[in-house]
Amino acid sequence: NANAQWGGRFAGGPSEIMQAINASISFDKALWRQDIRGSLAHAAMLAHVGIISSSDETAIRDGLTGIGAEIEAGTFTFSEALEDIHMNIEARLSERIGEAGKRLHTGRSRNDQVATDFRLWVRDAIDGLDQQAASLMRALALRAQEHAADPMPGFTHLQTAQPVTFGHHLMAYVEMLARDRGRLADTRRRLNECPLGSAALAGTSFPIDRAMTAQTLGFDRPTANSLDAVSDRDFALEYLSALSIMAMHLSRLAEEIVIWCSSPFSFIRLSDAFTTGSSIMPQKRNPDAAELIRAKTGRITGSLVGLLTVMKGLPLAYAKDMQEDKEPVFAATDAAALSLAAMDGMVRDMQANTAQMRALAGSGYSTATDIADWLVRVLKVPFRTAHHVTGRLVAKAEEKNIGLAELTLEDMQAEEPGITPDIYSVLTVDASIASRTSLGGTAADNVRAQAQRWLATLADT
Ligand code: ARG
Repeated sequence: NANAQWGGRFAGGPSEIMQAINASISFDKALWRQDIRGSLAHAAMLAHVGIISSSDETAIRDGLTGIGAEIEAGTFTFSEALEDIHMNIEARLSERIGEAGKRLHTGRSRNDQVATDFRLWVRDAIDGLDQQAASLMRALALRAQEHAADPMPGFTHLQTAQPVTFGHHLMAYVEMLARDRGRLADTRRRLNECPLGSAALAGTSFPIDRAMTAQTLGFDRPTANSLDAVSDRDFALEYLSALSIMAMHLSRLAEEIVIWCSSPFSFIRLSDAFTTGSSIMPQKRNPDAAELIRAKTGRITGSLVGLLTVMKGLPLAYAKDMQEDKEPVFAATDAAALSLAAMDGMVRDMQANTAQMRALAGSGYSTATDIADWLVRVLKVPFRTAHHVTGRLVAKAEEKNIGLAELTLEDMQAEEPGITPDIYSVLTVDASIASRTSLGGTAADNVRAQAQRWLATLADT
């Protein structure tokens, strides 16, 4: 019982173990739509240039359409003995339409076939994730608009640094996601060349029209080198790199959400829809979705490192190692799609505890820089000197266990005699935020304008 597709020179079939290690159908059946699409384009081209008859092409088209319906209906029997999705579909085609089905594989190989299918799959995945990322950007920008003027502590080293607005903080992630989408778009642009017709590795002697198949499948052009075309998995690696960076961004936001809803912080409250309880501690509201988004980053980055490792030592052209390209890409795509969806839901639903954020925005001497800036602006003290004076004022306040605004004028003048009561006007959180009007700064009008700009751009995504 030699293989129906390549068994000519074989007397016997593979061992069970050989079949188990060799078969990819359990996961590459996910490529069935792309495989049928590719075969339809190939058959149409073969007929167009006269390599097969138009009646064969019609039979192939009807057969493949029927097979698509079988797979969709769940009545198609996938066979491990037929290794992969390509041979499963081709074998079924011959079963359904006979001779004409056996002509389909003219002028192509599974090597260019799988490279084409996989590019089509990744291209579709990019389009889906791009939509999801745009939706998350919109969710963040809407919440940012709502909280454009609501103060929160801004941190460096997770130590209170300077007040910012919650909207400003959320808009930072909009910028990151915009770059993530840019990376996906770049990946899509570079991958959009069609390997079909490169055949096994050397091209083919048949007078095929590669430009026609490329165009039918929505590619910008055919690939230029047949060896490269069947060996290249850069597009998958680039895709996984883009996903890894995006996952890292989502993980940072997830980590912040975990911190923000931890009760000592209590900056936000997640909705019931995006929290879980504890089986023992009745008071708990756990941010599991955020934690899992943080954790999925490991899976996504692991996929990138895994595939880089698979590819790094392979001589040209195709090697079966490359069959291991699909599971990491599928796994990373699922993880990224779920992470984007969960983040979208959390962000849209979360409640900001603005009173708590405002209270903490003014703690930890967060307006110390504003004192230093006042000394520079009003008294023309050099900034480095102003920094020292302010440092002594902070130490004094800390000693007395009071805030900077509670220091008396005498306390202040003891450090810098030129200080006037006007200095108190810069010590509030609102004044601090309002003063940060530099481009990209946290002043509420800046944040509102930035959110509006993005919402206008995103309206047509
Ligand atoms: N299932 C294979 C893969 O995913 C298809 C290509 C097989 N080519 C070959 N020469 N055995 O890589």
